[in-house]
Amino acid sequence: MATPVSAEQADAAVDRPVLRVEEVTKVYGRNDAEVRALDGVNLSVQRGEFLAIVGASGSGKSTLMNVIGCLDAPSSGRYLLDGIDTALMDEHQLAQIRNRKIGFVFQNFNLIARTRAIDNVAMPLAYAGVHRAERRQRALRVLDAVGLSERATHRPTELSGGQQQRVAIARALAADPVMLLADEPTGALDTQASAEIMDLFDQLHHAGRTIVMITHELDVASRAERVVRMQDGRIISDQLKGAAA
Ligand SMILES: Nc1ncnc2c1ncn2[C@@H]1O[C@H](COP(=O)(O)OP(=O)(O)O)[C@@H](O)[C@H]1O
Ligand SMILES: [Mg+2]
Repeated sequence: MATPVSAEQADAAVDRPVLRVEEVTKVYGRNDAEVRALDGVNLSVQRGEFLAIVGASGSGKSTLMNVIGCLDAPSSGRYLLDGIDTALMDEHQLAQIRNRKIGFVFQNFNLIARTRAIDNVAMPLAYAGVHRAERRQRALRVLDAVGLSERATHRPTELSGGQQQRVAIARALAADPVMLLADEPTGALDTQASAEIMDLFDQLHHAGRTIVMITHELDVASRAERVVRMQDGRIISDQLKGAAA
């Protein structure tokens, strides 16, 4: 439900970070078996940024992604998504926020195999309560934006890996989220298809999309404008492209 906002509030909405992680820890297990998967993480991402999170296996990337994606709650600290303190939300509200504000992109695409590209893309809109005719229109529009309008009626099995990932990106964009959250988006793709997906991310970034991407591939990370490096549950560097170390 849309509540009216004043001009001041609207300005604040433009200025506030898309996400803000404050002193977040995530602890698994207890006592001797305790693992601090996140150990005092602070991270702010502004609208329109294209950020890569990198680090060795076990450094905490997936745990941080789960917090950012509202799939898991921090053990301590705060996580604000588009100004909303996620600790104040119940499960149902979190599911709604996830659906409205975040477009997820996964390593293995997670498309529904026997369902046409257009219907895969329209699915989140059905959950959001958008009517059928408009779902179709919007799905076609985002498929066009990822260069796949001619494949709208193809099923995932009839598409290459790179094309399937583009369908998944179209699905992630369908509900016009505040950010794309991608976990190893090129992990299942060959070099050529990976480069095409990164070209698409570039294009979306230049169109103003906010993109947070987790990757362990340094050449993929180098395509982002900002690279955040994790080690042992902490951020050990946070660099803008072109800036000195
Ligand atoms: N559900 C869990 N239970 C216990 N330990 C976990 C769990 N998930 C992750 N960990 C541990 O937390 C640390 C960070 O893991 P993870 O976030 O998956 O790292 P990455 O994605 O960078 O490989 C690792 O030591 C991992 O073993
Ligand atoms: Mg991981």
